[in-house]
Amino acid sequence: KRTAKIAPSLLAADFGNLDKDVKMVEDSQATWHHLDVMDGVFVPNISYGTPVVKAIRKAAKKPLDAHLMIVKPERYIDMFADLGVDNLTVHYEACPHLHRTLQAIRDTGMKAGIALNPHTPVSLLENSLEGADLICIMSVNPGFGGQSFIPNTYEKVRELRSMIDDKGLDTLIEIDGGVTLQNTAKLLEAGADVLVAGSFVFNSEDPEATIARMASVEVY
Ligand code: DX5
Ligand code: ZN
Repeated sequence: KRTAKIAPSLLAADFGNLDKDVKMVEDSQATWHHLDVMDGVFVPNISYGTPVVKAIRKAAKKPLDAHLMIVKPERYIDMFADLGVDNLTVHYEACPHLHRTLQAIRDTGMKAGIALNPHTPVSLLENSLEGADLICIMSVNPGFGGQSFIPNTYEKVRELRSMIDDKGLDTLIEIDGGVTLQNTAKLLEAGADVLVAGSFVFNSEDPEATIARMASVEVY
């Protein structure tokens, strides 16, 4: 019997009442806070940076799962480590020296993640899996919350699941974008471990109950 770890994306939170939304996630069955950092270059949108991450860290006890949608993410590894981030995920497409970048993240004591855009095949991770603690499969084009789930994600999750199992690794598979209660079971069945959810959680009437519902979906 397997259930998913839920990582609510604070991109969909109310930034005028950030403390309240962080506390909601703290009190909920969520495992991590998912933080989306965008630079307006790697993706066509700017989200938030250091001061906001600092404020979230102050209000949160649960681990911070930071997803960097920025070019040259290696420039900011030490900064995010100093801010108290726990998992640092960089994009495959943003890292010409991915192996070195992952190593630098691990050297700080943070967990290292690789995110893949929808068009990037998981087979390209053949030589990178050992260096990563987490693979984030983007199920929308990164940059915005509230987009709809791209269905070929299921196939990518199944393929990555067997690559990880064949190598006997315990790398986590995280899915990010368009996740709702409608695709939770199917993603779990395909082999996902962590589900990021932004708008589905924060736009629901009772976000804490929505997280509980997602966290209680079981597959065999
Ligand atoms: C998209 C971000 C996601 C986003 C998910 O670029 O990486 O984490 O917040 O939002 P929803 O769940 O609304 O698709
Ligand atoms: Zn994200």
